[in-house]
Amino acid sequence: MTTHPFENVTHVASLGPVLDRLGTVFRTFDEQDSGCVSYGLLASGQRWFVKTSSTRKGISSLRRAVSFHQRVSHPAIVPLVHSFTTGDGLVLVHPWMSGEVLYHPTLSRRGGRAAPGSPMARFRAQPLARIHTALDSLLSAHLAVEEAGFVAVDLYDGCMFYDFDEHRMMLCDMDEYRAGPFVLEADRLPGSTRYMAPEEFVRGAVIDIRTTVFAGPGAPSAPGRRRPGEAVARDGRATGGRRDGDLRRPGAPLPLGPVPRRGLAIGRTPPRVGPASAVT
Ligand SMILES: Nc1ncnc2c1ncn2[C@@H]1O[C@H](COP(=O)(O)OP(=O)(O)OP(=O)(O)O)[C@@H](O)[C@H]1O
Ligand SMILES: [Mg+2]
Repeated sequence: MTTHPFENVTHVASLGPVLDRLGTVFRTFDEQDSGCVSYGLLASGQRWFVKTSSTRKGISSLRRAVSFHQRVSHPAIVPLVHSFTTGDGLVLVHPWMSGEVLYHPTLSRRGGRAAPGSPMARFRAQPLARIHTALDSLLSAHLAVEEAGFVAVDLYDGCMFYDFDEHRMMLCDMDEYRAGPFVLEADRLPGSTRYMAPEEFVRGAVIDIRTTVFAGPGAPSAPGRRRPGEAVARDGRATGGRRDGDLRRPGAPLPLGPVPRRGLAIGRTPPRVGPASAVT
């Protein structure tokens, strides 16, 4: 069992004083779309990622995360080590990971996947062998997800945490993953439109393991996916390509890429949907 500084904490009135008592907050993430606020906490010589929300939507995502992590564990999934309630919300504790998410949109800043020096651009410039190893981690993690009877929701490059020193890919922020298959009872699911399967925009559609397959390396913007017309350098590096958004244009062929062993993408006929209004 992982030991952590919150060992005996099951409920607190307010998170701030507990963080102050246990250690030092060295980073705050308070500009996320989710409405959650997260902290990097240094306590007893170790770093922790502490995520909290007091909004209805945020609390329900964090509850999903708790039930997901109770059932799924995998070396490429950042584990949940503890959770507790506050007077007005829920708190999740994960180990702090070194590395960067491949894309980090915030309320005030978007874009940046193609910008030179961005994590995504640096990832795409890695030798193909490293990219394949990273994608293998993602696929292997999703076999564990499937095994546990869960489906991916809101999987995108903001969940893909890459350590450029250790060359290790981990998945974080799996708060929207849910038990599946399930029937979509809203007009769409949360997520980045670049990664979402057509059925995620159709009320009444069945969301199942095929949806997960689409959102993985088969997605139009999947990191490491070589885009049409993109050259590969002699050392195996992709040398750049056209804009991501082009691949989601209306009428573009369905980008079903490499399919995990047990995925069911072959032969599926996804419902037709109109162009996504905003590509995120
Ligand atoms: N275990 C971790 N260790 C270090 N940093 C992390 C960890 N998990 C997430 N992060 C960083 O914190 C940021 C916010 O985390 P996360 O994506 O879980 O928040 P969120 O509130 O769900 O955001 P979103 O609105 O994008 O869904 C991530 O983009 C990543 O940079
Ligand atoms: Mg999230």
